[in-house]
Amino acid sequence: MANILNIQTSISGENSVSNKLSQTVINQLLDKDPNSKVLVRDLALNPIPHLEIHHFSASRIPDEEKNEEQKKASQYSDEALKEIQEADIIVIGVPFYNFTFPSTLKSWIDSIAVAGKTFSYADGTPKGLLQNKKLYLNFAIGGVYENGLIENMEHYLKTLFGFIGITDVEVFKSQGMMVPQLKDENFSKTVAEIETVLA
Ligand SMILES: Cc1cc2nc3c(=O)[nH]c(=O)nc-3n(C[C@H](O)[C@H](O)[C@H](O)COP(=O)(O)O)c2cc1C
Repeated sequence: MANILNIQTSISGENSVSNKLSQTVINQLLDKDPNSKVLVRDLALNPIPHLEIHHFSASRIPDEEKNEEQKKASQYSDEALKEIQEADIIVIGVPFYNFTFPSTLKSWIDSIAVAGKTFSYADGTPKGLLQNKKLYLNFAIGGVYENGLIENMEHYLKTLFGFIGITDVEVFKSQGMMVPQLKDENFSKTVAEIETVLA
């Protein structure tokens, strides 16, 4: 039995390609391990606020010393941290909006990249504190890019998650989702790829 955390960020509701890819991953995982539990965090419906001064300063105060206001300020981060710490498998839908991933995903990242909780410099070198987790990133991209743009985004996300200890990362991506001549074929190919890799 695994705890699966599904991070959704698409604003396209039921038409979301990234969420459909994530669901394909989750279905495969559930086929193999039907007792697994899935926790969905939909950042498009319930975004985490941008990291502001009061959020950040509250997150640096030890839990037992926080007053009520500071507890409230660190609540978003505390919840997101608990979810990722408890997850064995993280499945993230990554739509491509205005040449990068959604800012809601960045706000979530800002809430889970916390010194002393998910990474540490205590030994003098950076150490990721999350261990034994598998991450699936499912990209949905309107156009087709061959100039390294998508690879850069992938590289950033892999570096970030590696920094907090998540190094086992599998990437699936569908490009051309806004191109009528490519959409269905490319999407079906990615679904088939997921089903093969996770068979
Ligand atoms: C607000 C918005 C911005 C977008 N910006 C881009 C873009 O810069 N480049 C691109 O190729 N596609 C762009 N698209 C198309 C999306 O990448 C495409 O619809 C993809 O399927 C989004 O993932 P989703 O279906 O999970 O929402 C954009 C779509 C939206 C809604």
